[in-house]
Amino acid sequence: MGCAISEMAPENAERTTGTQDAAAHLDQEQIQMIRESWKVIQDDIAKLGIIMFVRLFETHPECKDVFFLFRDVEDLERLRTNRELRAHGLRVMSFIEKSVARLDQLERLEGLAVELGRIHYRYNASPKYYSYVGAEFICAVQPILKEKWTRELEEAWKTLFLYLTTFMNHGYQEEKNRQSHAIDSPKDRPEKRNTAL
Ligand code: HEM
Repeated sequence: MGCAISEMAPENAERTTGTQDAAAHLDQEQIQMIRESWKVIQDDIAKLGIIMFVRLFETHPECKDVFFLFRDVEDLERLRTNRELRAHGLRVMSFIEKSVARLDQLERLEGLAVELGRIHYRYNASPKYYSYVGAEFICAVQPILKEKWTRELEEAWKTLFLYLTTFMNHGYQEEKNRQSHAIDSPKDRPEKRNTAL
């Protein structure tokens, strides 16, 4: 604990209509800073994924309910060695890795983030929680980067998370609208996944 980062919530995180809010803008200098810092961070992604999510569950316990396989584990210390949490942390961190690698192809990155938001709708993981992940990421990487951590670097990572979560939010809303319109036509309606970890 002990890391006070304000959450980077796009306003009205879970809206039912209007998904056209402007995405955050990363400039070339920020992109370069993120790439450089990632070279240091990347060796610790498995550990970081766990730290981030255990902290997320400490600060926002309601997020744990979304994960069927470990939502009943009360002891957060036990969660640190939980296989499913480790796998989930790695999936999230791999997505961040992929995002850093696509910073010069923002259109593709946008598409990936929108698709991820659609997937999260099926997992019942609401956009109101997405901003917490960026805040926990920043708290978790600071001790790894030590004196390399600067205000500018923090701003750059916040902007990247805001960018990703804005498009995830778009994807979530699109999928939500799509599924609610499919209600009239049950045979076309995809089932909401109920098997999330
Ligand atoms: C920046 C925010 C986040 C990112 C980048 C992210 C990334 C991911 C990725 C890459 C996956 C695997 C998707 C797949 O099945 O192909 C995933 C799955 C999932 N996410 Fe997230 N996620 C974020 C936030 C959250 C939050 C806040 C929650 C819950 C409150 C959540 C709940 C889930 C669940 C339940 C799954 C399915 C289980 C799993 O694959 O481990 N996610 N997420």
